[in-house]
Amino acid sequence: MKIVVLMGSPNVNGSTGILVENFKKGAEEAGHTVEIIDVCHADIHPCIGCVRCGYEGPCVQKDDVEQIRKKLLASDMVVFATPLYYYGMSAQLKTVVDRFCAYNSSLNSRHLKSALLTVAWNADDWTFDALQAHYKTLVRYINFKDCGMVLGYGCGTPSMTKRSGYPQQAYQLGKGLRG
Ligand SMILES: Cc1cc2nc3c(=O)[nH]c(=O)nc-3n(C[C@H](O)[C@H](O)[C@H](O)COP(=O)(O)O)c2cc1C
Repeated sequence: MKIVVLMGSPNVNGSTGILVENFKKGAEEAGHTVEIIDVCHADIHPCIGCVRCGYEGPCVQKDDVEQIRKKLLASDMVVFATPLYYYGMSAQLKTVVDRFCAYNSSLNSRHLKSALLTVAWNADDWTFDALQAHYKTLVRYINFKDCGMVLGYGCGTPSMTKRSGYPQQAYQLGKGLRG
């Protein structure tokens, strides 16, 4: 499979990045190709809600979303990677998701596989409730097929994350992908 990771942490070598690298290693060992798109350092502007695209058509904004659109529509799987920011995904990742607006129908008809990789400082059992609900709702709406989530509780710093079992979980998620 061709897998695209939307890397939504501005810390390339942070905790989210650790999960992403482990996922990539596992997926590549299983024969997949993995491309990581650093959405935080790309030129991506928020949707302005003009709906000139009609939910499927050229966007009036000319930025790096055009490349992301091409890559996603040519892929078999998308991975959402994000630190938990105020109990949701990072604004940088949400900005990319909102821009799905201009290729909503195309994305819907691709039936992509998907996964969620995330980390948080908090370790309470409710830490990821809101993000999980959002991810599951997005997947349901846009006709993706969820292949798994790695929810990194208590992963507040790279050293905390490295000491946890979550990098291994991310590796196993990648390694176990079929298709
Ligand atoms: C703006 C911001 C908001 C955050 N919000 C939360 C939060 O709501 N809950 C939580 O447990 N941790 C929160 N954190 C902590 C990060 O999720 C955590 O430190 C994570 O490991 C950062 O990942 P990174 O190394 O990829 O940047 C927040 C951090 C920042 C910078």
